[in-house]
Amino acid sequence: MTSKRYAQIVGWGKYVPTQVLTNDDLAKMVDTSDDWIRARTGIVERRIADPRETTSTMSIKAARAALQVADVAPERLDLIIVTTATPDYLFPATACLVQDALGARRAGAFDLLAGCSGFVYGLGVGSQLIISGAYENVLVIGAETLSRIMDWTDRNTCVLFGDGAGALLLQASDAPGGVLSFTLGADGSGGDLLMLPGGGSRHPASAETVAQKLHYARMNGREVFRFATRIMGQAAKEAIQAAELKIDDVDLFIPHQANIRIIQSAAKHLGLPMDKVFVNLDRYGNTSCASIPIAFCEAIEEERIKPGDHLVLVSFGAGLTWASAVVQWHVPLPAPRLPGWKRLLRRVRYCWARLVSRLRRTYRKFSSWWGKAVGRIRGNNNG
Ligand code: UT7
Repeated sequence: MTSKRYAQIVGWGKYVPTQVLTNDDLAKMVDTSDDWIRARTGIVERRIADPRETTSTMSIKAARAALQVADVAPERLDLIIVTTATPDYLFPATACLVQDALGARRAGAFDLLAGCSGFVYGLGVGSQLIISGAYENVLVIGAETLSRIMDWTDRNTCVLFGDGAGALLLQASDAPGGVLSFTLGADGSGGDLLMLPGGGSRHPASAETVAQKLHYARMNGREVFRFATRIMGQAAKEAIQAAELKIDDVDLFIPHQANIRIIQSAAKHLGLPMDKVFVNLDRYGNTSCASIPIAFCEAIEEERIKPGDHLVLVSFGAGLTWASAVVQWHVPLPAPRLPGWKRLLRRVRYCWARLVSRLRRTYRKFSSWWGKAVGRIRGNNNG
């Protein structure tokens, strides 16, 4: 008889850009104030990527940190899922850029788009691929460069969002725990409430779409707020029931960090005291898909998680979508720090991966040039 498999979280990592944009900075750009933003959202400041940073570069940093914590080599990854609404390109997938930079030779890679719920969607998909027996190691990343799709003259949106990345490494285990349950949901009738209209097949990028500002995120904040306060508590309850737990069993609630009033309303719906709720949106704003994995990493850093704890993750976002999951923590904390030589070896590995990638590109160019040259010579001889 084969033993039951579980998908445990064994590695975690985050990256946030160093540049801080405060509410006071924003008040110099649009008609807003620190008081308004704090009172209506709970946000105090957010991080903004520098011009060289992208969703893939931040993903790579978070991914490397997660692999280092777990002491797992990139070659052991079976799958990389990057959840994002702001990929580097429409294609290739950002996950493929991450796969190349890590040197994860055996891994499949794809992006997953489910609005801000993307990360919990990714966790659901990744955990099931492990529990089914298909894969051993799946890396789920949530990363966003939302500053690139903000209209910095629109106070309805630009005060809310920030940039960053977080990654969790899922691994097959026969120890009970890990991702115990999840629920995914969608209501496409609310798709127009939060969208990026331009750049897709409906409004391909053109001078006209740029003039109409269709390349910026648009949102009906009030309606999204109403939806969020209705769905967050409900989705969390469904995942708790699916894990055959009670509200009292919840040790830490890690919600999508969009608005403190939405978080408080979800906690109230569940009957959870705020000291069981993890909040860091004051420092990062809403980082969409990155919000839950960054919060998860910080909950570990702040020693808010211990083995045996039941954690509830819940998110909502564009689509409209929602998702929730229950995780039972298993790994002893704090995670042991890798010895210096192992960290050095990792750095060498990543340099090697970069070199191999360059050689492959050069070889492709050379073989294409060679093929054409041989074709020309043959053509000349025949002629
Ligand atoms: O990951 C999912 C992403 N989306 C969200 O999470 C958004 C969810 N929605 C929200 O968090 C809230 O609806 C907002 C924070 C966006 C807005 O808060 P609100 O309490 O719902 O404000 P409101 O939309 O009802 O607007 C109230 C007033 C309006 O003025 P009038 O019409 O009453 O004169 C707005 O124009 O506040 C005004 N306003 C602002 N004032 C100062 C809107 N944005 C700002 C601003 N600064 N940044």
